Amino acid sequence: MTETRSYPRHINTDAGDLEFRLMSRADEAAVLDFAKALPTHDLLFLPRNISQPKVLSAWVKEIERGDIVSLLAVKDGKVVGCGTLVRDPHSWSTHVGEIRMVVSQDVRGQGVGKALSQETFALALCAGLEKLSVQMTVDQQAAIALFESLGFKAEALLRDHVRDVAGKKHDIVVLGHNVAQVAAQMEAYGLPGAVQH
Ligand SMILES: CC(C)(COP(=O)(O)OP(=O)(O)OC[C@H]1O[C@@H](n2cnc3c(N)ncnc32)[C@H](O)[C@@H]1OP(=O)(O)O)[C@@H](O)C(=O)NCCC(=O)NCCS
Repeated sequence: MTETRSYPRHINTDAGDLEFRLMSRADEAAVLDFAKALPTHDLLFLPRNISQPKVLSAWVKEIERGDIVSLLAVKDGKVVGCGTLVRDPHSWSTHVGEIRMVVSQDVRGQGVGKALSQETFALALCAGLEKLSVQMTVDQQAAIALFESLGFKAEALLRDHVRDVAGKKHDIVVLGHNVAQVAAQMEAYGLPGAVQH
């Protein structure tokens, strides 16, 4: 799906000039450092704890298999954000992609998340996905606001669905987006090439 977009890309944000590039095996150590510096509460939306080396190497294998595309936001050689598009080619939902995104605490609120989510969204459109989903703990106000601004709408609430390291349970909200409708609307407006490759 990435053949249709070219990387690296340089993006200007309030956090400065960032490089967006595809994550590969060579980034394993840098991404582990990034993940370890994040509050564990911010990782609860993920199916596995990415601050553990085993989980990270499984993630890299999924990238190499082509089931996952991860974009890194890099500032001065340091990973400050990661946006991932996940698909399961063996499921009944090959038309659906899940976006997972996380940004370093020290650059939050400076547009990095917005730029990463837009780029990940564009990847999903290029890949011909029809629906996108995203999930987070209900207290992640910034994440909910960010995805709502992209047109995502709440579809489900999973009560007490994840348990943090202290044993406390948290609710998860699932937001969805009908991407196929966006593509159809763009064509209706005469903008089939609106997503630049
Ligand atoms: C969600 C997250 C990636 C956003 O990253 P970010 O770089 O801070 O986001 P941005 O600065 O681009 O802000 C994007 C939008 O989020 C909203 N937002 C940002 N900070 C906010 C805050 N503290 N409270 C409420 N809304 C906020 C705003 O709508 C903002 O858009 P605007 O600047 O046009 O108003 C980041 O908060 C994060 O890593 N959270 C923990 C992980 C997580 O829960 N991820 C969600 C699962 S996909």
